[in-house]
Amino acid sequence: MPVITCIDDLKRLHKRRTPKMFYDYCESGSWTEQTFRENTTDFQKIRLKQRVAVDMSDRSLETEMIGQKVAMPVALAPVGLTGMQHADGEILAAQAAEKFGVPFTLSTMSICSIEDVAENTSAPFWFQLYTMKDDDYLRRLIERAKAAKCSALVITLDLQILGQRHMDLKNGLSAPPKLTPKSMADLATRWSWGLKMLQTKRRGFGNIVGHVDGITDPSSLMSWTSEQFDPRLDWKKIEQIKEMWGGKVILKGILDPEDAKMAAKVGCDAILVSNHGGRQQDGALSSIRALDPILQAVGGEVEVHLDSGIRSGQDVLKAVSMGATGTFIGRAFVHGLGAMGREGVEKALEVIAKEMDISMALCGKRKITDMSRDDLLIPEDFSGRWTA
Ligand code: GLV
Repeated sequence: MPVITCIDDLKRLHKRRTPKMFYDYCESGSWTEQTFRENTTDFQKIRLKQRVAVDMSDRSLETEMIGQKVAMPVALAPVGLTGMQHADGEILAAQAAEKFGVPFTLSTMSICSIEDVAENTSAPFWFQLYTMKDDDYLRRLIERAKAAKCSALVITLDLQILGQRHMDLKNGLSAPPKLTPKSMADLATRWSWGLKMLQTKRRGFGNIVGHVDGITDPSSLMSWTSEQFDPRLDWKKIEQIKEMWGGKVILKGILDPEDAKMAAKVGCDAILVSNHGGRQQDGALSSIRALDPILQAVGGEVEVHLDSGIRSGQDVLKAVSMGATGTFIGRAFVHGLGAMGREGVEKALEVIAKEMDISMALCGKRKITDMSRDDLLIPEDFSGRWTA
């Protein structure tokens, strides 16, 4: 058993154990990957203060996200094709999240279906929705999430068309992988992954294969998005979806203060500041740089969450101290899953909790809910000065 001390350790194992096309899918950003890179490097520009001679006993990372108690302010983000990183990946990640006491979010583009995850967990999970052209299918999908007792709907607003990730095209990404000489040579070196995949029946897009017609290639994320996702999505449709759902809603993919104000006006329980992990608009600001202007724009009217770029507990601490109520991790837990299945996701959560806890103590704080901007050193022009 290797000694795992940080998310990077899990990432190295993930790369070694998982077929290249799925590792690359996880670890890519769109086009030049500028936003993908800056999501992490911008976190490093913010510094944590160090305070001494303060009582640091009895610490707690517990808080709430959309009124739900969480062991730490971290939810597992919706990640497409998670069940290709490891057999039954979404079920294993949801079980790890449940054990740890944090929310799990199932992607519309998951391999395990809503029903698969519900049958194999007992804590309610969150469901992420992509809006489709087919209204009947959309309605049925929402009904399925309700029947599974999902406790929040996370509506993604920034992926009606897919940003190009070069490696996915070069690797011929598909679920399940198509057997070509190149993919077979790669799969031959990932035999443990392959054996587990042979033992599961879940190898296609579980929420959509068999539920939607008219797709040229059911194994391709590119075909699904270009043929099914609704490019006309607008605030009116978001309001309609919200009504259809009738429960808690998180609006994901907000990067602009004007959109944040619109999201608050339409009404939601939280907005999720996100650039989709640098996978959509390349050249956009990192999420952590976009956070402050959005917090000011909504002025406490709704909870503000953040994803994109979080690879450590210190990153969570910085986002929360700046004013985010909660954060989401995507790659950080997928590295754990690809490395060691459910145990790896648990490890990723433990690593992040430990980093957050110790760094919080060294800030001189005992409760995550007591962290504030006073615990940070933020560069003066961090959000940037841009001409209109
Ligand atoms: C979404 O499913 C993505 O690939 O970013």
